[in-house]
Amino acid sequence: MDSKVSSLLFIAILCLLSSTSTAFNITKILAQYPEFASFNDLLAQSGLAQEINGRETITVLALDNGSIDGLSGRPVDIAKRILSAHVILDYYDQIKLSKLQKASTIVTTLFQASGIADDRQGFLNVSKTAEGIKFGSAMKGAPLVASLVKSVYAQPYNISVLQVSEPIEAPGIENMAPPPPPAAVPKKAPAPAPAAKTPSKAPAPSKVEPSPPTESPTKGPVAADVPAASPLADVPLADEVPAKAASSQMHVGGAVVVVGLLACMVGF
Ligand SMILES: *[C@@H]1O[C@H](CO)[C@@H](O)[C@H](O)[C@H]1NC(C)=O
Ligand SMILES: *[C@@H]1O[C@H](CO)[C@@H](O)[C@H](O)[C@H]1NC(C)=O
Ligand SMILES: *[C@@H]1O[C@H](CO)[C@@H](O)[C@H](O)[C@H]1NC(C)=O
Ligand SMILES: *[C@@H]1O[C@H](CO)[C@@H](O)[C@H](O)[C@H]1NC(C)=O
Repeated sequence: MDSKVSSLLFIAILCLLSSTSTAFNITKILAQYPEFASFNDLLAQSGLAQEINGRETITVLALDNGSIDGLSGRPVDIAKRILSAHVILDYYDQIKLSKLQKASTIVTTLFQASGIADDRQGFLNVSKTAEGIKFGSAMKGAPLVASLVKSVYAQPYNISVLQVSEPIEAPGIENMAPPPPPAAVPKKAPAPAPAAKTPSKAPAPSKVEPSPPTESPTKGPVAADVPAASPLADVPLADEVPAKAASSQMHVGGAVVVVGLLACMVGF
């Protein structure tokens, strides 16, 4: 291997290594605000903090101690589902929200990326109203339950933390069938008892792949608002790049360099 290739290889490896470090630490950010202590605890307990830290462009809708009561009493997997629908896979700070052109916008959440979301449970409706910005589940007929209270923290354009007034619970999110066994949701053990909560949920295997939101039987213009590529694109890529790098053996030095540099450019 000549020195040019090995120095490129060195850069590529450095880049791959540094790409695994995270841009921010949500636990640390929220620790500065005692009123979000319970919310912060729940993020850590449910493993969502780690998932948030693994992203580069994200908005967290935070609940203060006073408004999270209804969630802290729930089983942790239910709380996780609900809270993951408070994490928007895009950057929205107060300025960006105030500049929204449309009366309402549909945004994709981390719950959609879990692959277990049904219909439009994984999306939020962000609406401009006379009383300010409001958030609700994007499920048909779901109310805009939460109001924007204030901006808590912003690191443009990577992470924004916005306080909202109420938990946003998508209809049916609590009574869903247990998630499919594949590694979509890291679980300590396979669900012990397949408690038949929802008898109608028989075709579980079909839920392994996150279904594109455009399939949902909703009004045309609405579906067009959904960022079509993001739900799918956000999930697999993160694992894909390291996997590729691992499978190409070191004897194909050039390939490793290319993959490394590509990963670097893509930002992983
Ligand atoms: C912030 O996000 C951008 C992509 O939106 C990414 O390229 C950049 O590396 C991120 N910044 C940090 C410090 O990770
Ligand atoms: C994030 O910050 C918390 C609290 O400061 C710390 O315990 C945790 O190890 C940090 N996580 C990462 C990935 O750095
Ligand atoms: C919020 O609740 C946590 C316990 O859940 C507590 O440690 C923290 O001090 C509370 N913060 C405020 C501002 O009440
Ligand atoms: C968002 O919610 C409001 C109020 O329920 C509704 O009028 C609007 O059509 C919804 N927007 C979208 C894009 O679904």
